Amino acid sequence: MKPDDEHARALIEAARQVRDHAYAPYSGFRVGAAVLTEAGNVHAGCNVENASYGATICAERAALFRMVASGDARPVAIAVFVDAAEPAMPCGMCRQVISEFGRDVLVVTATPDRVKHSTIAELLPDAFVLPR
Ligand code: THU
Repeated sequence: MKPDDEHARALIEAARQVRDHAYAPYSGFRVGAAVLTEAGNVHAGCNVENASYGATICAERAALFRMVASGDARPVAIAVFVDAAEPAMPCGMCRQVISEFGRDVLVVTATPDRVKHSTIAELLPDAFVLPR
């Protein structure tokens, strides 16, 4: 998937649309995320904040948990859309959760003007894995 290709643009568009549903009364920072899986499905999620701030969930994890609850697996890419000057990179907790589902997952972070591509292996080079 390349920055300009059709799949990337469609995934960014899904993230842009779901961002309208973000519940962010505390930060005012609305985030949308959309996961594309090997099966060709798209699972979208937004950030949902809480008065108990630590109970907040980021858009990336909301999208990935929706993927799992839908019975889907194996993400190929996750797009994250914010309306800001710079793309928002996934937080550390979300990087760990993305990494759980594959080290090659492409992370596409986008604003209305910019698109940045990374792999989760680049963003989290030494992820935690449960020692056996
Ligand atoms: N947030 C996300 O949804 N994804 C990110 O990548 C970074 C942060 C949310 C969490 C919180 O609702 C708001 O942005 C401010 O941190």
